[in-house]
Amino acid sequence: MLNIKDIQQEIIRLKEENDVCILAHSYQEHEILEVADFTGDSYKLSVDASKVTNKNILFCGVHFMAETAKMLSPDKRVYLANPMAGCPMAEQMDPEMISALKVKEPDRKVVAYINTTAALKTVCDVCVTSASAVKIVSAMEDKKLLFIPDCNLGAFVQKACPDKDIMLLNGGCPVHAAVTADEVAEAKAKHPEALVLVHPECRPAVSEQADYVGSTSGIMKFAKESDAREFIIGTEISIVEHLQFECPDKRFYALSKKIVCPNMKLTTLPEVYNSMLSISKNDGEAFEILMDDELIAKARVCIDEMLRLGG
Ligand code: 13P
Ligand code: SF4
Repeated sequence: MLNIKDIQQEIIRLKEENDVCILAHSYQEHEILEVADFTGDSYKLSVDASKVTNKNILFCGVHFMAETAKMLSPDKRVYLANPMAGCPMAEQMDPEMISALKVKEPDRKVVAYINTTAALKTVCDVCVTSASAVKIVSAMEDKKLLFIPDCNLGAFVQKACPDKDIMLLNGGCPVHAAVTADEVAEAKAKHPEALVLVHPECRPAVSEQADYVGSTSGIMKFAKESDAREFIIGTEISIVEHLQFECPDKRFYALSKKIVCPNMKLTTLPEVYNSMLSISKNDGEAFEILMDDELIAKARVCIDEMLRLGG
């Protein structure tokens, strides 16, 4: 039977043989990050995807991320390691609903969190990620905006950009939004010396009690550079593990054991291996992202705008 190291070596061999680049979001397990060529948050992976030179990309993350990679590298074959890995927030709003709202609010520019489907992106003006949202919204000349779908991230951006008039809808990440203010109080009581670092997808009642609110990469950078020794981490549980691995002299605690994204966790190392085997045999079993040129062209406009304003 193959052990983890054997499987990893096989994946690396198959990658080289078949000209595959593996992109893995930071919410993936450590053993997957170890075989990846690029790792990071959604903004970094979008930039990385636009620069990949390999013929094939295998994405370890959720569907909208692989779709974004396909839009940025349309000539490459892009695969998602687990076809069931979607993001429930990305499915919360559809293009018809936003188009109807645009008729009622014609002077608002539509800012879409990148956690949206390609179809929804076609009716939006600019994309943002949690790492780039404040920078991009600040850089926009427009004052009146509609921010979709995450009202918690939208509220965070509104606070950071008080000169903007941001309309919000009732959407968000079910994983981060499940954390309660009481859980923050409990975690602080248990670890009184620890700083609280949370993702802006958490509810304002949670973010208001944090010492730092920022994206996945922002939280990791803050924890690594801080002189503090203990941290309560209010984002996906894998980040606690990655930080503990990278900073063995510091202590990291999960703000809530509920912050586990079941979709991100659908991808396992054996599945990455199976996808690599299928890509190498070209047997049609690996899940390939297929999009027509018109959809790519229309949805890409707001991704290019994100890269222009966030660069
Ligand atoms: P980042 O943009 O911080 O990578 O977050 C992605 C995500 O899905 C958060 O839940
Ligand atoms: Fe989607 Fe939330 Fe999972 Fe991120 S953590 S992929 S926003 S469900």
